[in-house]
Amino acid sequence: MEWRRRHVLGLSDFSPEEMEFVIDTARSMEEVLTRDIKKVPALRGKTVVNLFFESSTRTRTSFEIAGKRLSADVVNFTSSSSSTTKGETLLDTARNIESMKPNVLVVRHSASGAARFLSQHVGCSVINAGDGANEHPSQGLLDLYTILKAKGKIAGLKIAIVGDILHSRVVGSDLHSLGRMGAKLWLCGPATMVPKALEKTGARVTWNMREAVKDADVVMMLRIQSERTKSPWFPSIREYSRNFGLNRALFSLAKDDAIIMHPGPINRGVELSDELADCASSVVLDQVASGVAVRMALLYLLAGGSHAAH
Ligand code: CP
Repeated sequence: MEWRRRHVLGLSDFSPEEMEFVIDTARSMEEVLTRDIKKVPALRGKTVVNLFFESSTRTRTSFEIAGKRLSADVVNFTSSSSSTTKGETLLDTARNIESMKPNVLVVRHSASGAARFLSQHVGCSVINAGDGANEHPSQGLLDLYTILKAKGKIAGLKIAIVGDILHSRVVGSDLHSLGRMGAKLWLCGPATMVPKALEKTGARVTWNMREAVKDADVVMMLRIQSERTKSPWFPSIREYSRNFGLNRALFSLAKDDAIIMHPGPINRGVELSDELADCASSVVLDQVASGVAVRMALLYLLAGGSHAAH
């Protein structure tokens, strides 16, 4: 397959072949990460700017490490210490950064569509690192890769995604990555956060945690997106946790070899008990590790490398 994209803004228009191509490239990158010297010159002379207008631990660090592993120069922009605090607009900020000739802008913003908007106004590549409640494509791809590594396939797996579905950009991308690869997706949470209309996506909707988890191959837990949910969507955290938190008894309903996923950050004791967050079935840290390889693949494909990275 020939890679033709200049931007990665979401997975809604990604074909299964394109996703497989990214995963194949990530596999090559993962081999680099097993070496003593985890660095290749593939993006020497290229510049990646992490333009983050929202907090991040995993995504920003992962893109930074990914760029550095490929020998790109990586610059981190944090809005709280930038001139946006003096009133500069998103577009002016991006145009000013673009004048310094980066090859890739990695953008996180609270507004849905922010990365797409910037891609229409700058000459370099743009990767969406999370835009509001819309999409988080690199997370969708790393979730796909993590499940492939754990299960060897996606098609036919029952994958239960539990939590604040309505406000989750991770779900916004996972519905495309996992759904398009043939997973049987179940969405579960309070009715206020999991509207029945989501069945239009092809996923099953249930407000019953036992039904979601029963015989699941993968249970993916999500946190409540409190930064995007100002109104009271459920009576109390305690009640939410009782009805939609994953504990040992509930997880025993899943298949014996089921895995537990979470994109992070985990709110321990709310959606996931301490015991399960750290148990042998948890692949939460594998997701983070996969993220570096997937982001190396995306940077490499966008910044003009050939498929052979070494
Ligand atoms: N999964 C994820 O996006 O985590 P961060 O918000 O820490 O980047």
